[in-house]
Parts: sequence; structure tokens; C-alpha cells
Amino acid sequence: MKNGSTLQLEIEKASTSKIDSVDFDNLVFGNIFTDHMMVCDYKNGEWRNPKVMPYGPLQLEPSARVFHYGQAVFEGMKAFKDDNGEVWLFRPQENFERLNKSSKRLAIPEFPTEVFFEGLEALLNLDREWIKQGFGNSLYIRPFVIATEAGVSASPAKEYKFLIICSPAKSYYSGEVRVVFAEKFSRAANGGVGFAKAAGNYGAQFYPTNLAKEEGFQQIIWTDANTHEYLEEAGTMNIFFRVGDKLLTAPTNDRILDGVTRKSVITLAEENDITVEVRRVSVKEIVDAAKKGDLKEIFGTGTAATINPVKGFGHDGEKFELEDQEDSYAQYFKTKLMEIQYNIAEDKFGWRYKV
Ligand code: COI
Repeated sequence: MKNGSTLQLEIEKASTSKIDSVDFDNLVFGNIFTDHMMVCDYKNGEWRNPKVMPYGPLQLEPSARVFHYGQAVFEGMKAFKDDNGEVWLFRPQENFERLNKSSKRLAIPEFPTEVFFEGLEALLNLDREWIKQGFGNSLYIRPFVIATEAGVSASPAKEYKFLIICSPAKSYYSGEVRVVFAEKFSRAANGGVGFAKAAGNYGAQFYPTNLAKEEGFQQIIWTDANTHEYLEEAGTMNIFFRVGDKLLTAPTNDRILDGVTRKSVITLAEENDITVEVRRVSVKEIVDAAKKGDLKEIFGTGTAATINPVKGFGHDGEKFELEDQEDSYAQYFKTKLMEIQYNIAEDKFGWRYKV
């Protein structure tokens, strides 16, 4: 970054740390945040004044566009600490590019690469102690952009705030996950914002997911909005089905998030001679496969969820349970991925990024 420009990163260290009050063995996902955050403002047509500073509340006008029109996008990334104390990000360039893709769809100005990486690294270096060693420990990183301009005119804001906050994380789900296939509600439509990490995509799932929870399911697998015949993605994860020894997953499109974990699993499967069919997956074929005993596994993939087995599913009033597999693909990919993320295995694909 050029010295003297408005993009010179400023760093303000917190005077105290709250780390000693944190019970790292009993973390609930996304409840505790580290000592620092990154902020950068967009004003008069440019991003300016990037700063890493103590984590704390924001002051915003009640009329800020984000509150009224949901002009907001976010990302989810993770940092891992290896046995030597080195810190690694997993494919961060993918998240950065997707953030800007989401921003473009929401008419938010794109964020500059160098500012993102310089700020992120400075933030992680200040909060390094918050990243614990050992499989399963990570720091969940949440970059996001909100429209801050005051005024309720329904038009894109001219002012924004970019932020990164970080939260120490273990698993996303605290128990077993069962899903129901969506039959009435929809997550995304053709030409909509389903592919983007737009805040509203997630908020709109809360009500139908609450109804599903009342029926004993933790998540919904969303189906295509037109026919509800094809399985697309779960609210917090992309989704894979193992039928026999083959993996099936829906192709990404303008309704489905192009998940970084999803594409990593596809690459690892291909590398390890596991057949993956990336194609439309019908509800009927999965229900039929379950009835015949050919449906071996369902698992979700996502940054927060990592690779999460699905123990059963519901459809049209029927409930199906899946048996544990000795040669579980979910476990296999989870281990493979973690070995790369924690700097144990060779990084053949250049996915690790040293901080
Ligand atoms: C992630 O996996 O990072 C996500 O953004 C999902 C989120 C809803 C927890």
C-alpha cells in the first residue's frame, strides 16, 4: 500500500485482552469475538482509512440503508494453527473473490485485494493467541460489508463499512443433524441472489427452519423453487449424497452458493478416484435410493460446518435414518481436509496461505 494514501493501514491495539475469561473447551459457535476487528469506510467514491482496532460497537444512523433494505454481504473463512504455532488460512483468495461477487450483485462497491489481505493479516497477528492448536480448533473469520449511508430512499447507498470480526470456533452443530427436504418454502429463485452471501438469504431461512425444528429437523435441504423436485443446498452448507460408492451434488448456478469446502471435496474426491457426479439430484432418486438401502450417506460442507454428516432426512411425512458407514466418505474428506488445513499433509493444490 502506498504511504500517505488514504489506504494506509492504521493499527490501534486494545489496552486489555478478554482472552483469559474465555472457556475454549466449551465454545458455542459465533458467540465470542476476539480483541480486535478491522474496519474500512467507503465514502466519496473510494475505500478509505482501513484500521485494525479494538473490537467494539458501531455507531450508525437508524436510517442507514442496511437496516431497511438489507444491503449487506458477508463471508466465512477460517484460520488454523499448526503444531509449530504457524497460522494458516484455507483458500482465502476464494472467499475474497466471492465477497466481491456478492457485493456486485447487491450494488456494493468491490473491496480492494491488498487492503483486504493486509488488514486481515494484521488482525490475525494481533489476535494470534486466540487461535488454538489441535484438530477441530480454529478461528472463524467473518468479513462483511454493510450500507451505512443515512436515508431511507430505496437506492444503493453511497457509503459503506467493511469489517472483519473473528470468533474462536470448534464445531458449528452441537449435536446430530437431520434435515427435511423443502416442499413449500424456497431459498432462492432463478435470477435472484442465491449464489451470493447476501445477509437476507440467511435471515429468510429462519422462519421455515424454525418450523422444521418443531418437526425434529435441524436444517432444511432447499429444493428448486419451481418444482421442488431437485435438491439444491442446505441453509448453512452445500450438500452431498453418497449413493453406493458414488457422490452426487448439485451444480452451482445463480441459486446455489459456490462453496469453497464443496469445491475442495470435489477436487479431493477426483484425486482419490471417488466418482462425483455434479448434476441435478432429484428428490425421487434419493428417496428411492434410501428405500432400496443404496443411500449410504448425506453430508453437508461449509466453512463453519466443515463436513457434517446428516443422520437422517424427512420427506412428504416420511422419515429416513442413515446407518453409520465404516468407510464413511464424510469422515474421509474431513480428515483429508484437516490434514491440509493444519499443515500436516502436503498442500498439492496450493490451498494453504501462511499468515
Ligand atoms: C459459513 O460456513 O461460513 C457460513 O457463512 C454459514 C453461516 C450461516 C454460518
